[in-house]
Amino acid sequence: MSTITSDLLSILPYQQTSEQVRRDIALLMHQVWPEPSPPSMEGLVPEEHDPALDAFSCFIYRDNRLLSYAAVLHLTLTHAGQTFRMAALSCVATDPAYQRQGLSRLVVNAATRCIENSQSDIGLFTCDPSLALFYAKAGWPAALGVELIGSQDVGALSSKELGKVVVLRLLSQHAHGHATAFTNTCISLGLPLGQFV
Ligand SMILES: CC(C)(COP(=O)(O)OP(=O)(O)OC[C@H]1O[C@@H](n2cnc3c(N)ncnc32)[C@H](O)[C@@H]1OP(=O)(O)O)[C@@H](O)C(=O)NCCC(=O)NCCS
Repeated sequence: MSTITSDLLSILPYQQTSEQVRRDIALLMHQVWPEPSPPSMEGLVPEEHDPALDAFSCFIYRDNRLLSYAAVLHLTLTHAGQTFRMAALSCVATDPAYQRQGLSRLVVNAATRCIENSQSDIGLFTCDPSLALFYAKAGWPAALGVELIGSQDVGALSSKELGKVVVLRLLSQHAHGHATAFTNTCISLGLPLGQFV
């Protein structure tokens, strides 16, 4: 495993990242989750995160190359008659040529510290079953019995239908005070159709 030093790690609001960083993020996303057409590297900078989600970006560069990325998204959700400030890990990815070197662990740890130091009531997101152990080791336990849906709308994405594991952590007193609302339940994110975490 190569040695990674923390001076390569940056953490800042996505909206404050440079055009180059945003292009590199879009390219990395396309590398690990290819879409039919690659992001344009000229003209308009591709927006990876909906500005409404107030994204924070944690990323590692080496020699001007973006190697690993994790975003923290923020939203407010209403569940069981209560309002909760929620943070989600999203877009966790490492350049395929640099995987299995501990890079995503570094960005996920940095993103986790961001969430822990924020005003969030809960941390909530989904992951592939094969990565549940990785997130559990990073402090993000799987919430068995919890289903996550994009919204109540017909056609909204759902953790069950996508075959994803829901990861949930209660962070604030407010959330702990309503802990039972987060067991054996379905949580709606209230997101526009097509969006999910
Ligand atoms: C998943 C991904 C981000 C891991 O990045 P990485 O930099 O290779 O991960 P790390 O080297 O930091 O490994 C961290 C841990 O995850 C484990 N891990 C890494 N890739 C894994 C995989 N594909 N399946 C299962 N475990 C994996 C490692 O063994 C390590 O565990 P350990 O600390 O117990 O040894 C990377 O493979 C990737 O970009 N995949 C495509 C995008 C994706 O699926 N993102 C996750 C969305 S939930």
